[in-house]
Amino acid sequence: MAAALKIGFASPALDKTGTLVLFMGSDLDLSAATRKLMGTAGAGTVKRAVTAEKFKGKERSTLVIPAPQGVDADRLVIIGLGNEEEQAKADNVRLGGVIASVLGAGSSASILMEGPSKWRADAEAAADIALGLRLRHYRFDKYKAKKREAGDGDKADTPVSVTIHVEDLNGAKRAVRSRDAVGSGVVLARDLVNEPPNVLDPVEFAKRAKELEKLGVETTILDEKQLAKIGMRALLGVGQGSEKESRVVIMRWNGAKAKKGAKAQPVAFIGKGVVFDTGGISIKPAQGMEDMKGDMAGAACVVGLMYALAARKAKVNAIGAIGLVENMPDGNAQRPGDIVTSLSGQTIEIINTDAEGRLVLGDVLWYVKENYKPSFMIDLATLTGAILIALGQEHAGLFSNDDTLAERLNAAGQATGETVWRLPLGPVYDKMIDSKFADMKNTGGRFGGSITAAQFLKRFVGDTPWVHLDIAGTAMSSPETDINKSWASGWGVRLLDRLVADYYEERD
Ligand code: BES
Ligand code: MN
Ligand code: ZN
Repeated sequence: MAAALKIGFASPALDKTGTLVLFMGSDLDLSAATRKLMGTAGAGTVKRAVTAEKFKGKERSTLVIPAPQGVDADRLVIIGLGNEEEQAKADNVRLGGVIASVLGAGSSASILMEGPSKWRADAEAAADIALGLRLRHYRFDKYKAKKREAGDGDKADTPVSVTIHVEDLNGAKRAVRSRDAVGSGVVLARDLVNEPPNVLDPVEFAKRAKELEKLGVETTILDEKQLAKIGMRALLGVGQGSEKESRVVIMRWNGAKAKKGAKAQPVAFIGKGVVFDTGGISIKPAQGMEDMKGDMAGAACVVGLMYALAARKAKVNAIGAIGLVENMPDGNAQRPGDIVTSLSGQTIEIINTDAEGRLVLGDVLWYVKENYKPSFMIDLATLTGAILIALGQEHAGLFSNDDTLAERLNAAGQATGETVWRLPLGPVYDKMIDSKFADMKNTGGRFGGSITAAQFLKRFVGDTPWVHLDIAGTAMSSPETDINKSWASGWGVRLLDRLVADYYEERD
């Protein structure tokens, strides 16, 4: 784990040492309040540097001024906020990431929350910047015996302490509590996805999920014997070629007040947790197979989300359910041609043992629907390679039987930057998974691979409003961004936390 980043809050003032971070729009003016704090000499230094470096104040651009004349700080950093329209809709989490990139190793820094007129430099913005700093700072280096040293720039494993100077100090402290909850949820999801598959098997994964009990989350772990008794044969079939036992974990957060003694209907999140996907007997090629340790990213997101909801005491009842299996090809492994009976009673002909995620999810979706009667179900799964062909790593694929829920997720995606793109469902696609020998088969051929996978899941949700998010492109092997330098992005935790916060929490 990278050394801790210390973030504190204080009233507006100029710290005399370390890096001082200021903000500037494309009009290249410092705010009046900032100028007053800096004095004429300091403000003059900024002006000269801006001209000399041809700094334009563009959105998320940075200008570093070392040993600034007339200012006590060691360095000044100017962060561009762009034109007024850009200022008004600044992504402050992302801005925090940009700031982290210029802080340098081992130093202390202070951020002055003042800027151009259209930027709302309030308590919420300060808390968002703190979240961005933290997410950018994240490293997964627990298995590196040799730690990085100071002087390795952005990658250095040295602590940084940051003070955010903001007018509404109490507001910021309040806002940061919920951001910390969400940040820890994202970090938990990233850690789980980054863990190697020899460490994180289904039993260990279940143990990590159980740790949420510390936050008041009720957890139930179902072992193979119980799963067989319940009848989750589609899920168990996937795990039967592995030495490792399968597990299902149900997490419950009861944050809503009971009304007239009746518990509010829960919302439900379901995650694919294939801790390693060799493909089984339909084995995958060797090239890149190591990436399949990330095939549990859906389950990791659900655990991270439940963490966030519980840690910030969200006023909602939420179910998190994850199916944990390892897909391996031993002598007891499932074969192409096998027919299994799912928990729903529907039979499935296995065509390709590498289409295993849908088998796991089908049983867990049905179980959650029947046992908890949720107001909606959202599943997350690294389900198909085809979603990478369709959408790249820019959006997760969204499939739904409910326009309102789909639209709300779309809005939460715009707000958090974890964006989704809706793809179609329909009877013609559904027909593609009809089987000669059973009620359905587990693949629908090469065409529309992500859609036929979603159609398969749809057969297990009944009338429950449902969204399937195919996160094979967004959750793992992630491109580096302003707020993530890690292989695992923790994708979905912020999106779903936002969905709950904006639409499903009780108001008081
Ligand atoms: N876990 C994979 C999908 C995947 C691919 C995730 C790339 C992340 C990156 C899934 O279980 C799988 O193997 N899907 C097959 C389905 C096919 C056999 C119908 C695929 O996408 O090729
Ligand atoms: Mn597979
Ligand atoms: Zn898989």
